[in-house]
Amino acid sequence: MSNTTGSAGQPKPALPPSVFTLPQSAQLEALYTIIRDKDTSRGDFIFYSDRIIRLLVEEGLNHLPVLPKTVETPTGATYQGVGFEGKICGVSILRAGEAMEQGLREVCRSVRIGKILIQRDEETTLPKLFYSKLPQDIAQRYVLLLDPMLATGGSAMKAVEVIMEHGVPEDRIIFINLISSPEGLKTFCAKYPALRVITGWIDEGLNDRAYIIPGLGDFGERRYCS
Ligand code: URA
Repeated sequence: MSNTTGSAGQPKPALPPSVFTLPQSAQLEALYTIIRDKDTSRGDFIFYSDRIIRLLVEEGLNHLPVLPKTVETPTGATYQGVGFEGKICGVSILRAGEAMEQGLREVCRSVRIGKILIQRDEETTLPKLFYSKLPQDIAQRYVLLLDPMLATGGSAMKAVEVIMEHGVPEDRIIFINLISSPEGLKTFCAKYPALRVITGWIDEGLNDRAYIIPGLGDFGERRYCS
């Protein structure tokens, strides 16, 4: 399955330029097939979702700037390469986003990771910030925002608002998720057009309970409970 054609071979609407998907290979689709399957055990769900998270984090890092860097190799030759420029941190949206922290740590040793808890305000029904703990120098860092499922986009947009209030420019935030709904992507990218979104797969849509369809159910439940 490619990202430009739907299941019936119909062209999909063009993605906003700030959205990047993983190469839609058969290998990747096989990983998604395992984690979408309701009969997949919790152990396999963790193992295979971790594989996807790792790919997503690597793709996110591709969007960070580099500067020319020359090194000397053990052969005595010089190699003109590049080095990472700028510092990064992660911010996970609790609770499901916490599952992506280890994938980031495996790729970026001793990376700082902040946390944000957003829940629905029962009175207003709007997403409300309940807790945040962010690196104190976050304004000087690129931020990899971690949340596995982009459904309506409400929590992610609130999280971006909080991060930007701490001084991080929109274009220094990279939002990484495993599955997006087209509705959520559209709303999110319209509000934050300069923020890059790295998503593994774009699904068909949302049901009336705001679950992604076909999706994989409740990511947090499947990862922590079943
Ligand atoms: N969060 C989930 O875990 N699953 C969905 O389908 C939507 C939001």
